[in-house]
Amino acid sequence: MRHLTQTSALALLLAAPFAGGALAADLSIVAGSTGNDLQVLREELDQYQEKSGNKVDIVSMPSSTTDQFAQYRLWLSAQNQDIDVYWTDVIWAPQLAEHFVDLSGPLAEEMKQNIPQIVQSQTVDGKLVAAPMYTDAPALYYRKDLLDKHGKKVPETWTELEQTAKEVMDAERAGGASDQFWGFVFQGAAYEGLTCDALEWIKSNGGGQIISPDGEITVNNEKAAQILDKAKGWVGTIAPPGVLAYQEEESRGVWQTGNAVFMRNWPYAYSLSQAEDSAVKGKFDATTLPRGEGGESGAATLGGWNLAVSNYSQDQDAAIDLVKFLISPEIQKKRAIENSKLPTIASIYDDPDVKENAPLIAKWKDVVLNAVPRPSAPTKGDYNEVSKEFWSAVHETLSGTGSAEKNLAVLEKKLKRLRGRGW
Ligand code: GLC
Repeated sequence: MRHLTQTSALALLLAAPFAGGALAADLSIVAGSTGNDLQVLREELDQYQEKSGNKVDIVSMPSSTTDQFAQYRLWLSAQNQDIDVYWTDVIWAPQLAEHFVDLSGPLAEEMKQNIPQIVQSQTVDGKLVAAPMYTDAPALYYRKDLLDKHGKKVPETWTELEQTAKEVMDAERAGGASDQFWGFVFQGAAYEGLTCDALEWIKSNGGGQIISPDGEITVNNEKAAQILDKAKGWVGTIAPPGVLAYQEEESRGVWQTGNAVFMRNWPYAYSLSQAEDSAVKGKFDATTLPRGEGGESGAATLGGWNLAVSNYSQDQDAAIDLVKFLISPEIQKKRAIENSKLPTIASIYDDPDVKENAPLIAKWKDVVLNAVPRPSAPTKGDYNEVSKEFWSAVHETLSGTGSAEKNLAVLEKKLKRLRGRGW
């Protein structure tokens, strides 16, 4: 931030003659609020303030990555000097690269410990645009107690999930559960989260990954259409009609109050679901997502969040120092154990404390290493538009506006037009 607070200005005055140029800075970090993310961040920042003497404020944003991106793009284009550090989604690096400081030099040592694919995802033309803070790869959460009660096994295919969700839901409702009790919740709103869910359905059914790593548009195919039509059948039967407006937090709300048999969500929901105030505490487990009949294995979309230093920050050195603290192994380990956030440092997955205290993290290393990236690298500056076209086509299909076959054909045409702009 441009302005020093009174206290830090005073600290500066007092320290200046003796401290060899170590300035106390007044920084600001912008981040979205999903689950208890901002509360955890505040605790980490308090620790940092204590250690560094720098003061850090949080500028809080809505949970939706789509909403955040739109706002950040505006601020960055306007060269906003009030924000030093941005908490950035894994998919944004190519689109925002020009606005951020190259961290490859200052964080060279730190990056050596990180999973190479994740560092690669944040590197654009040799520039490290953002430093990995945690990674994300989703899980299928299931009510262990209810599957046991009704003699069901954990589903391995979407068809099995569909059948089990329906049978358990019907039996529970017949046994007195309300009509607000559902079989499956996921992210069905028209936003980036739906791109993640639908990529998993399609990839797990052998339908590819929308656009291939070398930029070929592959999404208009039979296996993709088949699984999207299947997912349409879930809305209003095993999933609430309102799922078409659900993001992560709405899904978690239904699940965590005990009103769903299955949920697709990211690992952050694990520790929150195990908290004292959760109706499903001790009653659930998490496994990998199912596969479609047309595919060989389930798929997990690669998510994750990073920290970028703005070109327009007036305190870049202090901002980099803050980033170093927030990506450090100690903080990543704490976040893994307390908040079930997946580390970007491979060795933390094998840490004995993590193995003992963070059951999901310990078994998630392979899921992370095999997670499917969204096509943000091949589509370069156009990813946001590409994703928007994709999630719109999927949302229309789920809402019953046109068949998957027709919507994918229209989508292919739109994507071809976008590709004409240069990827
Ligand atoms: C999670 C993922 C992020 C993704 C978002 C979609 O936050 O980490 O990569 O874009 O969900 O809603």
